[in-house]
Amino acid sequence: MRAVRCEAHGAPETLVLRDLPDLTARPGQVVVDIHAAALNFPDVLTVADRYQVSTPVPFTPGSEFAGVVREVGDGVTDWSPGDRVMGTRAVGAFAEQIAAAPADLRVVPEGLDLVHAAVFQVTYSTAYHSLVTAGGLRVGEWVVVLGASGGVGSATVDIAHRLGARVLAAASDPRRLELAVRLGADASIDYATEDLKGRIKEITDGGSDLVVDPVGGAYAEQALRAIRWGGRFVSVGFAAGDVPRIPLNLVLLKNVTVRGMELRSWSQQMPEAFAAADAELARLVAEGMRPEVSRTRPLTETAKALADVARRKALGKTVIDVRG
Ligand SMILES: NC(=O)c1ccc[n+]([C@@H]2O[C@H](COP(=O)([O-])OP(=O)(O)OC[C@H]3O[C@@H](n4cnc5c(N)ncnc54)[C@H](OP(=O)(O)O)[C@@H]3O)[C@@H](O)[C@H]2O)c1
Repeated sequence: MRAVRCEAHGAPETLVLRDLPDLTARPGQVVVDIHAAALNFPDVLTVADRYQVSTPVPFTPGSEFAGVVREVGDGVTDWSPGDRVMGTRAVGAFAEQIAAAPADLRVVPEGLDLVHAAVFQVTYSTAYHSLVTAGGLRVGEWVVVLGASGGVGSATVDIAHRLGARVLAAASDPRRLELAVRLGADASIDYATEDLKGRIKEITDGGSDLVVDPVGGAYAEQALRAIRWGGRFVSVGFAAGDVPRIPLNLVLLKNVTVRGMELRSWSQQMPEAFAAADAELARLVAEGMRPEVSRTRPLTETAKALADVARRKALGKTVIDVRG
């Protein structure tokens, strides 16, 4: 099988394509024929050895994939050859095959092809749990989504709109905001040129009910200051780099609830909430919901594609079409 290999930590351009022996499933493992893999920013950090967990070289990067089960090892009862699956693992997805644990995999919702499935699980589950499980979203509420054109942000706009919220998308340029409006945002703010706090208060007529924040940096406090009394703020990530330090008097005076949502630990701690979310996401897919895929590239171009992610040149989600 072909696999993209990181043989020395560094920039994405140092990745190389190699031929490796086909995988066989050990006891408790599921081997998946990968059809498509997503590019995520943490892949850049893993290759550079700047991620929270260090992966020793050589290894195959790539953390999100979709494909078809090829073989199951002894003791695996919940998956069978031929099942369409999507999955996440720390590494291993930029290859034609991956060996996964059964719990790494989810059923691909009916109607979703494998290219779209490859970018669905992380962004849409994160968005759903931020809005609903952590955020307690109710129909008709104003939701402010920061970084609204990014992977998590665009999924959040999409789901919030479909669940009947009023969505206020915030992002850094008009081209990015167009995507959010196409996905159903009712209003938008260009936070590179507009006053985020003032515009949120103006558009929502006094303050938002909920903020979903995958960006952090200076925007977080501005968005928190524009929440109404009793509103909620869900912290999802820090794409801007800086982890904000929020003055607690803002939280106290307006009785705001601030929550974190970290998908991996939530999936371990709250299996029932996860099963409910998967069912609801499958229902929304059946109604036509699809993640945005802006571009597909073959496995041979993985290094170049990941370099675009590293330099913030990629717009929307790029998928590696492993069989293409
Ligand atoms: N909590 C969880 O379980 C979970 C799950 C998935 C992802 N995350 C985290 O959520 C964050 C967003 O992930 P994503 O997949 O949506 O990323 P993404 O597709 O790259 O989007 C990030 C957005 O952040 C904005 N941004 C602002 N400053 C930035 C900067 N200096 N560099 C890059 N982007 C910047 C960008 O929009 P503008 O240019 O319009 O500002 C961009 O659209 C990441 O920190 C990721 O690690 C958390």
